[in-house]
Amino acid sequence: MATVQEGLEGVVALESDVCSIVDGVLRYRGYAIDDLAANVSFEECAWLLLHEDLPASAEAAAFRRELDGEWSVPPGVIQGLHLLPKGVVPMAALRTAVSLLGHFDPEAESMSPEANHRKAVRLLAKTGPVIGAFDRIRKGLEPVPARAGKSIAWNFLWCLFGKEPTATQEKSIDVALVLHAEHELNASTFCARQTASTLSDLYSAVVSAIGALKGPLHGGANEQVMEMLTRIGPDADVEAWLDQALARKEKIMGFGHRVYKTGDPRARWLHEMSGRLTKGTPHEAFFRTSERLERLMASKKRLLPNVDFYSATTYAALGIPTDLFTPIFVLSRTAGWCAHVLEQYGDNRLIRPRAEYVGAPDRVVTTLAKRG
Ligand code: ACO
Repeated sequence: MATVQEGLEGVVALESDVCSIVDGVLRYRGYAIDDLAANVSFEECAWLLLHEDLPASAEAAAFRRELDGEWSVPPGVIQGLHLLPKGVVPMAALRTAVSLLGHFDPEAESMSPEANHRKAVRLLAKTGPVIGAFDRIRKGLEPVPARAGKSIAWNFLWCLFGKEPTATQEKSIDVALVLHAEHELNASTFCARQTASTLSDLYSAVVSAIGALKGPLHGGANEQVMEMLTRIGPDADVEAWLDQALARKEKIMGFGHRVYKTGDPRARWLHEMSGRLTKGTPHEAFFRTSERLERLMASKKRLLPNVDFYSATTYAALGIPTDLFTPIFVLSRTAGWCAHVLEQYGDNRLIRPRAEYVGAPDRVVTTLAKRG
């Protein structure tokens, strides 16, 4: 009988050059996340993931030009967003929209490395404007087109609010995008690679990944954190609330991690950012509740916040609707997913694990007429 590793915990499924997590330090292609978050833009970070090293100035400028050629969202995709039923969950809408983007990409089925690279850039450019268009359409507003010469973070906020973001708002989203861009063989990346390993196209791989990221145990946790903070309320007895939740064996969203046991390095950045952005705003009470929860979870459960915990109050302070928190994760992680898909295509072997059968023993079919 084979040993089953529940949840594939600890299973090393493949070799990768993209990202490492060793002794609690997250690195993209050898660069520590703290170093990256302090020093590079999301565009440089995406280039690093797609091209294996940071861009030189001319390469960074060329990448910006490449993005400038790709911001526009095909009218057919905008039409598709108009056709979605009212109240559809944004992550589900985004899953559909990315699939639709593939229909309007003449290179969708091309498997050349150059075409796949161009598709990755298209996705990076168009995802922010698509999220913005979705939100505006559901509010009865006209989508606004992205602007050339601007960053992915700037255009995301512009396409969402139709208002030029401040430098602080742009920088906050930019850093959040760097922090979320890549994370080794997490659930959604594994889905992307598994789909790619069948030699299906890049859009299909990213759609698979979006479906996995949507779940509350993965990227969906940031939205659940905000809902939890709202449920707890601003003046509540946080300890009493937590004791009751733990007694009911509830998972406290934004805590725990399959890989980090001594703290998620990304959470520290988001903690600082959330404290700064919420200060003096109506969201400060949520931030204080978050800090209280962090202390209580450490003492009662020895569990620390993950990337999703303080990203919730960070995004809320920027005025972003709660149900768009996970779509921001998509905007960022598209860089990591595409890097992994390109790596998978470069040295492919079908990913196909086995299952240990524990069902009914051998049986003989009785025909329908005889089954009564
Ligand atoms: N709240 C309460 N208890 C928890 C939590 C939590 N957030 N996380 C883990 N535990 C407990 C479990 O109940 C379990 O206890 P038990 O052994 O007494 O049954 C033990 O810790 C181990 O938990 P598992 O769920 O088995 O750990 P796993 O490695 O499978 O899961 C996960 C990791 C999914 C992240 C988990 O910690 C969790 O559900 N957290 C909440 C959801 C969340 O924040 N997800 C985002 C993760 S980061 C990301 O994907 C971007």
